[in-house]
Parts: sequence; C-alpha cells; structure tokens
Amino acid sequence: MTLDEKIVLMHGVNAMKGTVETGFDWAVPPKEYVGVAPPIKRLGIPSLKLADGRAGVGNDAKDITLLPAPIAAASSWDTGLLHEFGRVLGEEQWGKGTNVELGPSIDVVRVPEWGRTFESYGEDPYFNGQMAAAEIKGIQSQGPIADANMYLTMNQESDRFRADSVVDERTLQEIYLPPFEASVKDGHVGTFMCAYVKTNGVYSCENAHILRDLLKTQLKFDGWVMSDWGATHSTVDCANNGLDQQMPDDTFYGAALKKAVVDGKVSVATIDEHVRRILVPMFRQGLFDKTQPGKWTSNVRSPQHDVFSRSVAEQGTILLKNDRALLPLQPTATIAVIGAAGDKTPKIEGGGSSAVIAPYTVSPLEGIRKRAGAQVNYADGSDLAQAAKTAGAAQFAIVFANTDETEGDDRPDLVLPSKQDQLIAAVAAANKQTIVVLDTGGPVLMPWAGQVAGIIEAWYPGQEDGNAIAAILYGDVNPSAKLPLTFPRTAAEIPTAKKEQWPGVDGHSQYSEGLNVGYRWYDATNTQPLFPFGFGLSYTTFQFSHLSVEPAELELRSGAAAGKVTVKVDVTNTGKRKGAEVVEVYVGHPPANGEPPHQLRAFAKVQLEPGQTKPVMLELDERSFSIFDVSQGRWVSQDGRYEILAGDSSRDLTLHSSITVEHAGVSR
Ligand code: NOJ
Repeated sequence: MTLDEKIVLMHGVNAMKGTVETGFDWAVPPKEYVGVAPPIKRLGIPSLKLADGRAGVGNDAKDITLLPAPIAAASSWDTGLLHEFGRVLGEEQWGKGTNVELGPSIDVVRVPEWGRTFESYGEDPYFNGQMAAAEIKGIQSQGPIADANMYLTMNQESDRFRADSVVDERTLQEIYLPPFEASVKDGHVGTFMCAYVKTNGVYSCENAHILRDLLKTQLKFDGWVMSDWGATHSTVDCANNGLDQQMPDDTFYGAALKKAVVDGKVSVATIDEHVRRILVPMFRQGLFDKTQPGKWTSNVRSPQHDVFSRSVAEQGTILLKNDRALLPLQPTATIAVIGAAGDKTPKIEGGGSSAVIAPYTVSPLEGIRKRAGAQVNYADGSDLAQAAKTAGAAQFAIVFANTDETEGDDRPDLVLPSKQDQLIAAVAAANKQTIVVLDTGGPVLMPWAGQVAGIIEAWYPGQEDGNAIAAILYGDVNPSAKLPLTFPRTAAEIPTAKKEQWPGVDGHSQYSEGLNVGYRWYDATNTQPLFPFGFGLSYTTFQFSHLSVEPAELELRSGAAAGKVTVKVDVTNTGKRKGAEVVEVYVGHPPANGEPPHQLRAFAKVQLEPGQTKPVMLELDERSFSIFDVSQGRWVSQDGRYEILAGDSSRDLTLHSSITVEHAGVSR
C-alpha cells in the first residue's frame, strides 16, 4: 500500500472530501451511514460503513426493529438472550449494508444520573463483561464487526467533551477495564471506540496508557480503535499513542497525518501497525469475501424480530414490589390506567445517537385494553383530581411514570420529573391497589414506595411496550428479571453524591469511591438501598439449598493452569407457577486484600416447574481470588480464606461457604 492508501483507511470521509486530493476512485460515500471509510479499489479493500445501534439500527434508518434498551436486555441476567439481541441487531445492520455496528455500550454505570445508563448494562464489571461478550458474539455472527464503546471511564455526560476522570490504577483495572477485557477475550470484538472524556488528564484517543499499555499490550487486543465523533484532538499524539482511525472525518488524520509522517514525527512502522489493526478484523469477519446485497433503504424487519422485541421486554421487566400478591391481575378486574400510557406519551426508548425510529408502538393502554376482560378507563394524569377520581372508581390503578434520558445530558437528580411523584401519591391515596410501572433508563427515587401495592421497572421497552407489560401484569409471563444496578433510598445515599465525584469540580471528576462502585459502596458503608443490585421478584417463590464448593482448598501453582472451582446450589420452585430464577454467586475476599465486602463472580438462570428442584453448577476462576497488583502491573491471586455467598440478590445471600486459596510453595 502507498502511504496515501494507508492514510485513507485511517479516517472517515465526509461527503466526497478527499476525492480531489488523492485522485482515488472513491465511491460516493453513502451519506446514510454515520461514518464511512471509502473503498480502495486498486487493492480490493471494501468500504467500511458504520451505523449506530444499541437497540436497533440508528441514524434515522427506517423499516427496522426497535428493541428494548440494553439495560432491559441485561436485566434478564441471561447471556443467551443477549447473544440473540446481538444477533438480531447484527442481522438488521448487515441487511442495511452496515459492516461496522457501533455498539454495544459497555461502560460500568458509576453515576446513577448518567444520561446513557439505559444504553449500558449495569454497575458490575463482571456482569457487564458477560453481557458484552454475548452481545458482541451475536452481532459478529451476522457479518458486521462490533464496535464496543466507550473506551474508557465514560461515566457521565456532564461536560463530556472535556471532563477528566481522575481514577487510581487499581480501580481502573478492577472496575472499569473488565468489560473491555471480556470483549477482547470472550467476545473477540473487532474494534473499540475511544471516548470523549479524559482519563487522568489525557484525552482517551491520545492516551498511551489506556490505549497502548492496557488495551493493546495487557489485553492483547489486535483490532482497531476508532475515535468517537469529535474525540480526536491531535495528529501526532493520537497516532503515536494508539488511535488507529479517526471518525468521522480527516481533520487530524488526513493531510496532517501525511505531513507528520513526511516530517518524521510519526513513523511508517506506526502507520503500518494502525493499518494492520484495521485490516485484521476486516479479514477475520470476512469483509473481503462476502457480498452484502442490502442497502440503507432495505426493509430488514420481520415478524420474528417483532416477537423477539416483545420477548426481550418481557424478560427484562422487573417486579420490584408485589404486596399481598396482588399481581398478576385477574382479567375480570376493572382497571384505571393513569399517566404516560396513552397513544402519544409512552416512553419506549432513550435519546441520542442510539435513538431508533420505531416502526410502530403498542402503548400500555392499548396493550392492557387488548388483554383485559373488564372495563379499562384512562386518565393522562395532567389533572390530579381527575386522575384520583378515575383511580378510585376501579379495582386496580396502574400508573405509568417515566424519565426522559438521553446521551449528552445527565439527569439533574433521580427525582421523577413533571410532578409524577405527586400524581402517584394522589392515585395511591385514592386506590389501595395501586401499581406503579416505571419506564426509566436508570434508577429513580420513590418517595411513594410505601404507599403503593406494586412496583414494576419496565425500562425503555421498545416497540412492543404495551403487549409486554400486559403479559407481565396479567401473568401470561412470569417476571424473572433482576436489577443490574442499585436503586438508592435517598439522594444523599448514592456512591457519587459529592460534587467533586460528579459532575466534578473544575473539569475533574474524582473517582474517590475507588473500588466501591454501585452495590459495593452500599455494602461497604452499610447503607440500605431501596432495591439492591440483583433483586427482582417472581409470581412464584424459590428456595436455595445445599451450597457446595469444590475443592474446599484451592492449591495454585505458579505457571500451571489454575484449577477451576465449582460451586453447586440446588434451587427449588416452592410456588405454584413455573418460573425462572437467577443464582448469584458472590466472593468475599480476606480483609487483607482490601476489596469491597463481596463481588459478583458467577450467575446462572434456571427455569423451574412448580415443585421442581434443579442443581445449578457455576464456575469460579482464578480471577475471583485475585487483586490487581499495581506494583507488578498484573492480576495476582492471593492466599487466604474467601467467603462464597449465594442467593437471589446482592443483599439476600442466604447460603455461605468458603474456600482456602494457597500457593503451593512456589514463588509467584
Ligand atoms: C457519539 C456517541 O458517543 C457514540 O456512541 C456514537 O457511536 C457516535 N456519536 C456516532 O453517532
């Protein structure tokens, strides 16, 4: 390849820019895609066509499927579902001519107000890694290269184009890096997007430590890093510190990069490495071999995808409260539907570059009316007195409340906006059988939690909203989802409540909570959350028993592959309906290791008929017994006695066992 050809591959193009400069036979960059690297005809290198997609093909594409928000999919705690989520997304992207799918978003949710919480999976690094790997494999099984983002410490929208995440190395390694590590090692992701923010004072896309040391050396990532749109701030620093491709244009990686090479500021070897990193995943994904007949205007919808969208919404909806087993509803019950549930108001998706044009929306009112066998009345909630009156006249009141979350903005706080708290309180006062359905992208405060009989978190449920919520409310589907992040009781009781932590002071966000992110903080500070990480109810009940850990003593040998630890738990469905339960296994380190009280290290979902017991086997690897040793620059397993805890939420770990880890007299 000539230097010009190499550089062409290293940046996106905006509408024909560059044609004249290089004289290449450019294809007209299709304007539809949010990023394009043109083909190099002489060498048979195909064009890269990039499109956003977290819950469906974005960038104003039409005739696509709107899936529920990723946080809903993750709430299933079902990696199989995430694989299918990726598969459907990948199939639709490929059908649209896209060969690089911009997603998934995998950052750990550090700040509950984060405007992109809905795009991500949750607050636990291990959990996010499992979900990321599954979704990436699903996407890449259909043709497109997945682009996991945003790398790294992209944990807030406030001041996002210059915010600096000040984070210590151990926290970076143990909390923020693992989802990206799993994407490389288990997901075999082809590309990452470096983020807008800075990590420890240096912009992500020119940060040698995070790009070169961590991603490319430590994690052995062999694909490429593209910049987020507008996240490139230099030519020489970016090129020398690990940015392989600028998107979406050539402001730093066009003529300026060529000059830097000619001037000897960027070596040809460095350019070659960038180019190799872009080409390797292209070859691996078969982009040189496959034809892609689909166009941006192709209709990629299918009845199967509509059904799948509904199923994700059902699997991702969390039952948080169900007093007196009021739910599921009987079809004969009269219902008052209140609030954001009518034709124009349901909140089915988040905003920003992940936004998708829904092919249709089934509103909650429509879904409930279709399913109910008795009178369903509706009040939109704009008039409190009228809403209370409507609620009081029915056997059950179901209030829909939501938040408007979007990329680009954090929420100011966790309060439900537009006086929805007052609406819920007024309805609850009028009807003792009030159920609240939340369509939010992240946690909200619930001052009325004690006054209502039922609470459901349905997230942003996508196009099938009303059908899915009706199926849950009437018990056609037994809820089995669990929270992937903590819901706090009060504003003061969140891990990042101090201004210097979020949104930051003078442009710096201090990650002073360290390892104590999410539930780790609530546990470490003995703070009672409103609803804990991992929590979610069912219409049946489960019992866990017979926790066993094998071996009871783990002898690790340096250099030898560490033995795996098997955890076994029996789960019994003690109720009258079939249902699914998640077994969550947490590990508590010996105090000397300086880790949070306990951390999720394995989980599995199991389907059970009434009365049925199934043994569930889970594995713990050496990482479960390791800390990141900053002085050695690597994960090192530590001797000592570890607690093994199993249960159905981070705060309900009824089964306890332990394991002793010992290094067999060999120096490490
Ligand atoms: C900015 C967002 O941060 C990123 O996730 C997205 O892929 C790009 N814009 C392209 O739309």
